[in-house]
Amino acid sequence: MDVVTCHSTSEAETEAIAHHLAQRLTPGSLIALIGEVGTGKTVFARGIIHGLGHPDLYITSPTFTLINTYTQGRLSVYHFDLYRLESTEALLASGAEEYLNGDGVCLVEWPRILLERGVADYLEVLLTAPSYEAMTHRTIQLRPYGPASQRLIQPFLCPPS
Ligand SMILES: Nc1ncnc2c1ncn2[C@@H]1O[C@H](COP(=O)(O)OP(=O)(O)OP(=O)(O)O)[C@@H](O)[C@H]1O
Ligand SMILES: [Mg+2]
Repeated sequence: MDVVTCHSTSEAETEAIAHHLAQRLTPGSLIALIGEVGTGKTVFARGIIHGLGHPDLYITSPTFTLINTYTQGRLSVYHFDLYRLESTEALLASGAEEYLNGDGVCLVEWPRILLERGVADYLEVLLTAPSYEAMTHRTIQLRPYGPASQRLIQPFLCPPS
């Protein structure tokens, strides 16, 4: 499948790429945000949330709450951070899976446990910070796993930096 690769040199540019993607999202879109600590998963999530028209100013990782919900935009957003989740049982107990089949958009940081259970269709957003580049450089790859997520990025033009 086609992969789209964008380059960002600032937090604002990462938000702009996410904002652009937000315009293409549809009910049920699932975005898996993958990357090391501090690569910009939450920054990317914030760009999507604002891009969908949610007015909330402070958007932070739901590290302790597991899920943050935004309901005022074009599509509801369920923002997950599964970093602290230890087991599939804990995932099921959290009720998180119910959101996946809803009409909102799910953004999932640290999605490994969820993806291991198998999900029908998702767009992977892989953020990497090459150590040999400037501290603020990020490579952002959009990789579709399924036909619905493929439609999200066909075509996708990275916003000019
Ligand atoms: N090009 C860039 N894109 C995004 N963030 C950047 C960029 N350059 C520098 N940064 C900084 O990197 C940090 C990214 O933080 P963020 O909380 O989004 O990371 P994260 O991947 O969600 O981490 P965690 O795994 O802890 O949840 C911010 O402090 C941001 O200012
Ligand atoms: Mg985060």
